[in-house]
Amino acid sequence: MELSTDIKISTDPIFNRISKVVPEIEWKIHAPLIHKINKLKKDKNAVILAHNYQTPEIYHGVADFSSDSLALAVEASKTKADIIVMCGVHFMAETAKLMSPNKKVLLPDMKAGCSLSSSITGEDVRLLKKKNPGVPVVSYVNTSADVKSETDICCTSANAVKVVESLGVKKVIFLPDKYLAKYVASKTNVKIVPWNGTCEVHEKFTAKEINEIKEQNPGIVVIAHPECPPDVINASDFAGSTSGMNEYVKKNQPKKVMMVTECSMSDNVQVENPNVDFIKPCNLCPHMKRITLAKILDCLEKENNEILIPNNLVEKARLSVERMASIGR
Ligand code: 13P
Ligand code: SF4
Repeated sequence: MELSTDIKISTDPIFNRISKVVPEIEWKIHAPLIHKINKLKKDKNAVILAHNYQTPEIYHGVADFSSDSLALAVEASKTKADIIVMCGVHFMAETAKLMSPNKKVLLPDMKAGCSLSSSITGEDVRLLKKKNPGVPVVSYVNTSADVKSETDICCTSANAVKVVESLGVKKVIFLPDKYLAKYVASKTNVKIVPWNGTCEVHEKFTAKEINEIKEQNPGIVVIAHPECPPDVINASDFAGSTSGMNEYVKKNQPKKVMMVTECSMSDNVQVENPNVDFIKPCNLCPHMKRITLAKILDCLEKENNEILIPNNLVEKARLSVERMASIGR
């Protein structure tokens, strides 16, 4: 079926930008949805925030702001829109709601979870605090509002070391990612009490795989997310948050690069760096991939899938995120 002139006028410039990473046959399905979403977004004064792991048709097609989890939280606190549609996972939408409690925050698929977030509950944190009296709790933002309400300060991979050191203490409870905890411990003298959570996407990478790719691609630059196991980070040339990885490529323009992270990341960064050659062994995040254009349109039309946080958690949880935001990157 041919696309109408209206749809072509509004979406051809987008396709021209991303045609290297989105096949033309798929575009016929994406274009009418993008056209409708972008129109509805204006009519309803809605803003679409997207994480760097969203597919290129979302990231480049409908998102008003795309970034890492720290910047998404900050952006949610600043927006003038009435509705925030979070194209990401549940904890990101909950964090947006904490930062903007008077806005309607929608998540296109309520089942978009996260293995880190589901690895720990508020009750687990209460027990940890009992076992470690007086030790402050630093929680990765990849946690539920319940966990955040038991947390002194949140962090993301972009500012974890800075947050830990900001407390001026000798010991912190750092949860839930055991690999991020190891990464932080390698960069600070503060003693870290970890939790046993992992990211199901990043834990799958191995140093063997990285070293093989390096052998097959002499001169390749390997950049990894700090949720990867330590030997993977050690085998890489740089580690940073998703936006840190993006910035690294933008600034250094390596000839050839491998991003050791979720698959859509390379596609999205490739669009903005056409002279860089991306080698793409990657792992998909099944939760991030639950978000599709069809679901974005549906939830924006119906204004369903609204994020609501129990009153007894909101204030304490919000404080932990606001403290993180005030520390910055
Ligand atoms: P960033 O904070 O680096 O965007 O990472 C979030 C995430 O879920 C990575 O798996
Ligand atoms: Fe969670 Fe890992 Fe998916 Fe990020 S990539 S949302 S940490 S499961």
